[in-house]
Amino acid sequence: MKAMVLKTATGVDALQLTELEQPKTGTDDVLVRMRASSLNWRDTLIFKGGYRKQQKMENLIPLTDGAGEVVEVGSEVSNWKPGDRVTANFCPQWIGGEPDGQAVQSPAGKTEDGMLCEFRKFKAHELVRTPDHLSHVEAATLPCAGLTAWNALVTLDQIKPGDVVLTQGTGGVSLFALQFAKMAGAEVIITSSSDEKLQRAKSLGADHVINYNSTPDWGKSALEISGGRGVDHVVELGGTQTLKQSLMAVRPGGTVSMIGVLSGATFGDILLPFVVSRQVRLQGVTVGSRQGLETMGRAMASHGIKPVVDSSYAMQDTAAAMDYLASGRHFGKVCIEI
Ligand SMILES: NC(=O)c1ccc[n+]([C@@H]2O[C@H](COP(=O)([O-])OP(=O)(O)OC[C@H]3O[C@@H](n4cnc5c(N)ncnc54)[C@H](OP(=O)(O)O)[C@@H]3O)[C@@H](O)[C@H]2O)c1
Repeated sequence: MKAMVLKTATGVDALQLTELEQPKTGTDDVLVRMRASSLNWRDTLIFKGGYRKQQKMENLIPLTDGAGEVVEVGSEVSNWKPGDRVTANFCPQWIGGEPDGQAVQSPAGKTEDGMLCEFRKFKAHELVRTPDHLSHVEAATLPCAGLTAWNALVTLDQIKPGDVVLTQGTGGVSLFALQFAKMAGAEVIITSSSDEKLQRAKSLGADHVINYNSTPDWGKSALEISGGRGVDHVVELGGTQTLKQSLMAVRPGGTVSMIGVLSGATFGDILLPFVVSRQVRLQGVTVGSRQGLETMGRAMASHGIKPVVDSSYAMQDTAAAMDYLASGRHFGKVCIEI
């Protein structure tokens, strides 16, 4: 089978199209013909060896998101059959409920080979049925970006009609957050560095837009938009440079979902009494469980929601796709067809 292999974790130039032996199906395995994958911000770190000892540094098949169709099942597998369209859960051991240390691990494309190959073996519990209304490419956007936004807004915070949600930027997680917040009947404020992207976000249903470059104190603007009450929920993706503004925007008793570190991973000069005295909930979010992925898929099907796919590259062009993701020009998800 063909696979893209990162020979050494030194960057996209080390990626090579390679001929490998097709995996053999064990009695409890499901063999999937992989059809699509999608890129996530963490992949840019993995490509450069950013996780050091916590990743495979040589001969890694990259990428954690994947979707395809079942081609063969082992004799002990009863819930999948050839032809089934499936999507791989990002945290393969997190079935449902509260996570533990094992549940939040996502080894594919990091410590183990990932999805950028024609055939991959899974255990039956690692897969969910792909929603009928989605293509393989669309399905491949769900496991990381989609489920993270769902887990933050729906599973953990249970947002409701009338809530005000603020989400940062127009990348994968943020646009899913926009779509899920609108689905739940919430009012949405979205930020971006680009006025053109903000117009596109409006056409997806965003109620209020703020350019975070031309309005650096956008937290105050969001506070004003919410009539001085503050927003109920912030989807916090920027980290160091955005947390202070997020705390300015959130209402007393509101939630800041701590998800991303796009601008840095430290707290900086945050005044903790600002969190304490206003009873703000800082909620860490790590993707989500298989149960969440299934529930999200059903909700998307019943509301006809499709992920925002910016572009789709051939497997051989993954290096160009990674460069494009790193450029920040994308709106939504950058995908790979296998
Ligand atoms: N905790 C988890 O489980 C989890 C899961 C998924 C992702 N994440 C993290 O969440 C973050 C976003 O991931 P993603 O996949 O959505 O990334 P992405 O698709 O690459 O989105 C990046 C976008 O974020 C915006 N952005 C960049 N810097 C910003 C800043 N300082 N302030 C506000 N917006 C900024 C930009 O949007 P504009 O071009 O519109 O300005 C950029 O295009 C990453 O840090 C990622 O590692 C965490």
